Amino acid sequence: MRSDLSGFYDLSLDARLSLVKKLCSLTEEEADTLRKTVCLPHSDRMIENAVGTIELPLGIATNFTVNGRDVLVPMAIEEPSVVAAASHAAKLARPEGFEASSDEPIMIGQIQLLGAGRGAAKTILENRDSIIEIAHAKDSVLVKLGGGLKNIEVREIETERGTMTIVHLLVNVQDAMGANAVNTMCEEVAPFIENLVGGRSLLKIISNLAVYRKTRAGTVWKKEALGEDVIEGILDAYAFAKADPFRCATHNKGIMNGIDAVLIATGNDFRAAEAGAHAFAAIDGYKPLTKYRKNENGDLVGEIELPLVAGIVGGSTNSNPIAKISLKILNVRKAHELSEVAACVGLANNFAALRAMVKEGIQKGHMKLHAHNIALTAGATHDEAIKITDVMLSEGKISVARASELLEVMRR
Ligand code: MEV
Repeated sequence: MRSDLSGFYDLSLDARLSLVKKLCSLTEEEADTLRKTVCLPHSDRMIENAVGTIELPLGIATNFTVNGRDVLVPMAIEEPSVVAAASHAAKLARPEGFEASSDEPIMIGQIQLLGAGRGAAKTILENRDSIIEIAHAKDSVLVKLGGGLKNIEVREIETERGTMTIVHLLVNVQDAMGANAVNTMCEEVAPFIENLVGGRSLLKIISNLAVYRKTRAGTVWKKEALGEDVIEGILDAYAFAKADPFRCATHNKGIMNGIDAVLIATGNDFRAAEAGAHAFAAIDGYKPLTKYRKNENGDLVGEIELPLVAGIVGGSTNSNPIAKISLKILNVRKAHELSEVAACVGLANNFAALRAMVKEGIQKGHMKLHAHNIALTAGATHDEAIKITDVMLSEGKISVARASELLEVMRR
């Protein structure tokens, strides 16, 4: 089989699928399974060379109150327990729920200048107004909405290939994630800046380390709801993450379980959020994105702060019908409200994971859904899987082999 399929892009989805079927010896049934996944309009045009879609379950996290408003939170994720964990943590935080806030939606666009003369920073900053005028020439809509290029920073960095001048465009992108607007602006102003200071511009691209677009959320979990031992355990677990990058990576992964699930459900670029979150966590040595402490009553205070870039316009937020429905369920009117809900969910998932681990361990909750998935893998129908799961859990033996045995007995 050869992978250099010239003209593959220009084929219809069906024709691409037939070709892949032939080249990879897919059965008629497998090809048909793929074909049936294409039920959303435009799936064929969202990315290149599409042959199908892959589904994730969309769950609704309940019990969330964010800034005094109850909200149902759509979460798209393949991992069992994450939606239940977020819902339970939010329940324990009621009735006050979560407080959240965000910075202005300012994204950073970077222009890399090579060989700019001395004093470049001063010259660029002196020409700030002209740069803003050029940046705005092509995006009057954003400017009318109150967005646009708001400020410019210039940094000189030492690299292994010499000194480079890095221009930061600070762009208010309003309710979008912002990559398109920012990248376009960087490309528009780069020739003017080159002329001003000499040298050559190379990369012109958004930075995912959106330090000016941070979101914060916090809540108080009452001592009476958790118990003092659990609070002490969570504080010990937090201290572990602060002191050890091996643990901290997993601590932050638990946070991103929740955040990514909300971003995927709403058609947002979760890879950008991941990059921003981990770069932010690592800015002064890799640290947890959440903080925990006891208040004067002995309750547990949990807080999160991170760059959390989510849009409610542009990208697939509007072109993917499921993302549109998710946004409607969330009932958010501004992008920052979406980021705030996502930050609350991240905090909730982190708290729930720590609580479960200091109480009974993480596997107990996982096991039921895990066993169900194992039974499905063994070929059981949903109803058969429910029965097989019960038996496997009571035996404490969960494996595809055991599920197959039970299935065989059941079908005899
Ligand atoms: C699993 O997806 C997430 C956890 O590992 C997070 C954590 O350890 O804090 C449970």
